[in-house]
Amino acid sequence: MDTFVLRIYRGQPGHQYWEEFELPLLPAINVISALMEIRKKPVNRQGKAVEPVVWEDGCLEEVCGSCSMLINGTPRQACAAIIESIIRDTGSPVITLAPFSKFPLVRDLIVDRSIMFENLKKVHAWIEVDGTFNPTPGEKISQETQEVRYSLSTCMTCGDCVEACPQVNANSEFVGPQIINAVRLFNTHPTGKMQENERLRPLMEKGGIGDCGNAQNCVRVCPKHIPLTDSIAAIGRDVTRLAFKDLFSLPER
Ligand code: SF4
Ligand code: FES
Repeated sequence: MDTFVLRIYRGQPGHQYWEEFELPLLPAINVISALMEIRKKPVNRQGKAVEPVVWEDGCLEEVCGSCSMLINGTPRQACAAIIESIIRDTGSPVITLAPFSKFPLVRDLIVDRSIMFENLKKVHAWIEVDGTFNPTPGEKISQETQEVRYSLSTCMTCGDCVEACPQVNANSEFVGPQIINAVRLFNTHPTGKMQENERLRPLMEKGGIGDCGNAQNCVRVCPKHIPLTDSIAAIGRDVTRLAFKDLFSLPER
C-alpha cells in the first residue's frame, strides 16, 4: 500500500460536508503531517482544487492539546496519531477526521474550546500567590501526594474527556471531568487548600459533580492516563462533606 485516504468532515456551521484526499504513505507520517501535505496542494480525490483544510496545532508533541479532533470517531491528538499504526489497527487505508462535536464549530477541524478555560476560572483553578508575603520553601508534600498530584497536573485541557462524556450534551451544563480533576489538583496543595471550599461550591451547583453519570469514558480516552474517575470520587466525597457542613452550619475546616 503506497497511498492512504483522509476523509475529512469539513465546512462551517450549517454547511458541513465530507471531502476525501489521497496522499502518499510516507514513513512515520502522522495526521498533522498529512494535513500539511494537503495544505501544500489542496486538491481533493476527484482532482478538484479546493480551499486548504484548517486545523489547530501547537507543540506537535502531545503537550498543548490544541490539535484534538475525532480520528476514526475517537477523540485524540492529531500530532500523536501515526497513519501507519491507524491503518494497521483498522485494516483500512481510509481514515476519517472530524471536529469535536461538543464544542462550537469554527471551521473544518477547529472548534472553540474556550468553555473549558471559562470553567477553570469558575472553580478558581489556580493557587493564590499575591506577592504580599515572603516566599518560603513552603509546606512539605509527601512523596505519595506528589506522585498523585503530578499525574493530575499533566492535564493539557485537550477536551478529549469532555468530548467522550455522554453527560456533556446540548441539554446539560455539566462541566466535565477535566474541571473536577483540576479542583482535586489545587485542593491537594497545602496553599491551594485555603480556597478548597471556593472550588468545591461551584461543583455543588447545576452542571457540577452531581451531573456525572459514571460512564467512565473519560478515563478511557485521556491521553495522559489521568485517574479521572478517582478524582471524581475524591471530589464527590469532599462535596458531600461540605454539603453536610453547610446543612448543619458546622464551622469549616
Ligand atoms: S483530563 Fe485528560 S482528556 Fe481531559 S482535558 Fe485533561 S488531558 Fe485531556
Ligand atoms: S499539537 Fe500540541 S498536542 Fe498536538
